[in-house]
Amino acid sequence: MFVAPKIHSYADARAMARKNLPWMVFDYIDGAAGEGHGEAMNLSALRDIRLQPRVLVNVTKRDLGVTIFNHQAKIPFGISPMGMCNLSRPGADLMLARMAARNNVPVGVSTVASTSLEAMIEAAEGHAWFQLYFSGDGAGTTRLVERAKAAGYRTLIMTLDVPEVGRRPRELRRGFKMPFRIGPKQFVDFALHPKWSLSSLLHGKPVLANFTTPEFEFDRTESRAAADWTFLERLREQWDGNLVVKGITSVKDALRLKSAGVDAIQVSTHGGRQLDAAPPPILALRDIRQAVGDSFPLFYDTGLRSGEDVVKAYAMGADFVFFGRAMQFAMAAGGEACLTQYCSLITEDISLTLAQLGNTDMTGLSQSLVL
Ligand SMILES: Cc1cc2nc3c(=O)[nH]c(=O)nc-3n(C[C@H](O)[C@H](O)[C@H](O)COP(=O)(O)O)c2cc1C
Repeated sequence: MFVAPKIHSYADARAMARKNLPWMVFDYIDGAAGEGHGEAMNLSALRDIRLQPRVLVNVTKRDLGVTIFNHQAKIPFGISPMGMCNLSRPGADLMLARMAARNNVPVGVSTVASTSLEAMIEAAEGHAWFQLYFSGDGAGTTRLVERAKAAGYRTLIMTLDVPEVGRRPRELRRGFKMPFRIGPKQFVDFALHPKWSLSSLLHGKPVLANFTTPEFEFDRTESRAAADWTFLERLREQWDGNLVVKGITSVKDALRLKSAGVDAIQVSTHGGRQLDAAPPPILALRDIRQAVGDSFPLFYDTGLRSGEDVVKAYAMGADFVFFGRAMQFAMAAGGEACLTQYCSLITEDISLTLAQLGNTDMTGLSQSLVL
């Protein structure tokens, strides 16, 4: 019988994932752009945020629910879109979808997901947001938007920080490709991780599930560089649901996006995977919040590892936040049981942090808590 290991922190999940996954898969998930300075700088900026504890406030009853797009989420964090999640464990996408359904929170469904966008929204019981990449001349992108609409999606995340895929040396060293190919190097890697290899073999090699018919094709290396403001205007006209733009760190861009009629901005540096020299997004979040005003919806992802990190991001101006890698490591560590454990530990950590700060819910978190 399978007994899920116990995880008490991000470091536990990452260490177990490192043991279980082939090097190529671990480096794909864990890797960052360039030398990883941008990722490290943001992690250290997050760590350096100090929150002021307060005393003698009755914090017996604490509520972690928040409202996003008029929708009541039970917990204040969701899952950021990630491509090829089933590499971390067969069925990983659906585990994330079920977690989203249980907690009424969004799961981001990547253009390059390993489960089809239709299967994901069904498993998530509607709690799925479709993430769009612009590609080539944009014709395929337009078709995907229509497909997402037909599948019942009401929120689109347009990822804008990938005009070209970032240079990630750890992926390049391992020969990571999407869809992946098995050469001699990968063969040795897989042979040394037989548990992963056998279960992946049994469940079938992960594929780009939204592109299994000739009508929909995707080439990861095809340039996405042609997306411009005119494209965003057209997208805004085409999509009457919620439009979230992801990958923003510039105040100037944020102000222009707000004027262009997007419904929310997701401040992010793609987990440090795109531009090594990008500014720490957690600091950009504070500046963007100041510029766009209190009521404009701002989301955040990148570098979140714990419940305290979630509270810090809310204090810096986020209305909702998303986890990336951490969720994949939890599943690689011990499947759905570990994913559930990890989500519970973050939730509990958020609740304990609120108590220390003298807060009873997420709405009272603001810059005034940050030292
Ligand atoms: C393995 C992996 C694949 C990703 N794929 C996508 C993707 O397809 N689309 C997208 O918008 N973001 C993608 N991202 C970025 C995440 O949505 C998110 O911005 C990032 O993981 C957050 O940082 P964190 O991993 O430090 O939490 C990916 C991230 C990882 C780790």
